[in-house]
Amino acid sequence: MRPSKTSVGIIGAGPAGLLLAHLLSAKGIDVVVLERRSRAHCESRVRAGVLEQGTADTLAEAGVGERMRAEGQVHHGIELRFGGEGHRIAFEELVPGRAITVYGQQEVVKDLIAANLANGVDLRFEVEDVAIGSLADPYLTFGGERLDCDFIAGCDGFHGVSRESVPAADLAVYEKTYPFAWLGILADVAPSAPELVYSASERGFSLHSMRSDSVSRFYLQVPPDTRPDDWTHEAIWAELKARHETVPGFTLATGPITQVDVAAMRSFVAEPMRFGRLFLAGDAAHIVPPTGAKGLNLAVADVRVLARALGEYYRTGSEALLDAYSAACLDRVWRAQHFSWWMTTLLHRFEGDPYDRRLQQSHLAYVARSRAQATALAENYTGLPYAD
Ligand code: FAD
Ligand code: PHB
Repeated sequence: MRPSKTSVGIIGAGPAGLLLAHLLSAKGIDVVVLERRSRAHCESRVRAGVLEQGTADTLAEAGVGERMRAEGQVHHGIELRFGGEGHRIAFEELVPGRAITVYGQQEVVKDLIAANLANGVDLRFEVEDVAIGSLADPYLTFGGERLDCDFIAGCDGFHGVSRESVPAADLAVYEKTYPFAWLGILADVAPSAPELVYSASERGFSLHSMRSDSVSRFYLQVPPDTRPDDWTHEAIWAELKARHETVPGFTLATGPITQVDVAAMRSFVAEPMRFGRLFLAGDAAHIVPPTGAKGLNLAVADVRVLARALGEYYRTGSEALLDAYSAACLDRVWRAQHFSWWMTTLLHRFEGDPYDRRLQQSHLAYVARSRAQATALAENYTGLPYAD
């Protein structure tokens, strides 16, 4: 087995792993990133689209925000649509100075890969059979090689190997599944609305988002066992129209659909996020349903904390920030868990208890009417300030 050594071995080249590599290498810390999939695959995965204020600022401060600032769209509000009316949540009034940037996750990934490669970071794609050799005296094995590390960062998403390497007895797991999934649709058509529209229709939830002036992104609440091929493109447009054309004068423009995928709706947290010299970050440690647009933003928030803590360790030898990592991240994680559950419960159609349905209608009306409720939504959606 060919041995080698690095300071921080990073598993996974999603947003968490790539941003961590970029931040650490900027501090002069040696890293190796091991990714199972190809670069092309990582750069073409269509996932999240909403960057919180703090995420956009973090990327810009890290020197990877140039294209995001040029091509991303800054939005100062979202629309909640229900009961035949649209209600704008106006960020500029409710949380002055805070906004979101609509910029696709795959574009963030492209920018981070380019920046890491330009800086000479050791990014390895299509690496098979990555395994954690030991947690106490950490090393990674893959494809006949052994990589000794001071620390391992598990940034390998929900289905990765990092979390699985921790003894079950050392892990508290909190989990919730929802009785529906999201059908994600990418289409070559100009957005029909200037801002995102979250529509709580009688037929089920639907979201109108966008990627550019000529590309729209939609989601439909569907049964949990749905496969992408279950829906013809005609049926998708008919359902999107039925769920969105619920306010006077609104027409949904249609166009060629270029991609259809299904995302499961799940809430999940594994605690703590540190085991000896292994640190979990992003989806490897926690998952939220996408209704609050928090998954990618949480991954970035974790990595900010971890990069600072590792920077402190290599600068001074102090482990104080590393010791504080898990608690610092989980504080934000649980806020996002609650907000994502809250948005999901507020906006989706749940079959069953008519009492719950009436509660939901009352809650929706309250969010639309109450400045306090709308402010709580705006504050969480645009992202709470970081602790540091
Ligand atoms: P990931 O992006 O999952 O990256 C993990 C990386 O690790 C991947 O590149 C993977 O290939 C690699 N990897 C996994 N196992 C191994 C291994 N054994 N060895 C080496 N590499 C490995 N969030 C939203 O806010 N809005 C959305 O609309 C939305 N849609 C989503 C749709 C889907 C299908 C999924 C899965 C997630 C979605 N999310 C959404 C969540 C958001 O995309 C994630 O929170 C975000 O990608 C987290 O980044 P990450 O770097 O932690 O994990
Ligand atoms: C997206 O554009 O992909 C998106 C936007 C908002 C969400 C989820 C996904 O809540």
